[in-house]
Amino acid sequence: MAEIKPYHTTLSKKQEVEQMFDAIAPKYDLLNSILSFGVDKGWRKRVIRILKQLQPHSILDVATGTGDLVIAMAKSGLQAEKFIGFDLSEQMLNFGKTKIHQEGLSEKIEMVKGDGEKMPFQTGMFDAVTASFGVRNFGNLKQGLSEMHRVLRPNGDMLILEFSKPTNKLFKSLYYFYFCNVLPLIGKLVSKDARAYTYLPESVDAFPSGKDFVVILEEIGFKNIQCIPLTFGISTIYWAKK
Ligand SMILES: C[S@@+](CC[C@H](N)C(=O)[O-])C[C@H]1O[C@@H](n2cnc3c(N)ncnc32)[C@H](O)[C@@H]1O
Repeated sequence: MAEIKPYHTTLSKKQEVEQMFDAIAPKYDLLNSILSFGVDKGWRKRVIRILKQLQPHSILDVATGTGDLVIAMAKSGLQAEKFIGFDLSEQMLNFGKTKIHQEGLSEKIEMVKGDGEKMPFQTGMFDAVTASFGVRNFGNLKQGLSEMHRVLRPNGDMLILEFSKPTNKLFKSLYYFYFCNVLPLIGKLVSKDARAYTYLPESVDAFPSGKDFVVILEEIGFKNIQCIPLTFGISTIYWAKK
């Protein structure tokens, strides 16, 4: 898998990714809702619907960013005692903390800064681990997935929501035109970061999706892996057990 970095400097991918999300954090939520037409909210709801079947007591949301998934979980009526949002970017977390405070969820959700490839959590301590649009940004994908596997309890569930590649021919060409031409332009205008929204389609293109990603999850040691394509396959939920 080719390494796709935001800025092409001498810094590592991880350092560049942290820098990029710190820079775009103030506009991240706004751009998310403009660029996805709100469809991403429905995708997160699908993840939560699966979690409701599982009734986990402790949930870790890796690469939580501004916390949209972990906040939606805590508001959904899921009865977990512990919700932790974990992210590399201090600024993304700060915006998340403000939203959590405004929603009155500060007692329920803890936001922790750190690297998903080396997490400060005990082995087997979570019933469920999630990540939405996060793992594609890991500096070392397999290391990050191994960490997600490590912190899960035996038979615990991992749910990854990530961009994938649509298969329908007509939809695919329309989608790629939007994703590779329109989206980077709006992203650049609003975020003022010339690269962040060009990095997005580039990183999705280089990232393994569908069966290719399942092979990697199997290599890490995950079992019972299911792929659930969403909206013509623009995104996929990967549901796997430890
Ligand atoms: C596209 S955002 C997704 C945020 C959120 N999960 C969502 O659905 O909107 C990707 C996030 O992954 C985080 N990230 C990237 N690499 C990471 C790592 N190694 N450890 C923890 N977080 C990481 C970034 O800081 C960023 O907040």
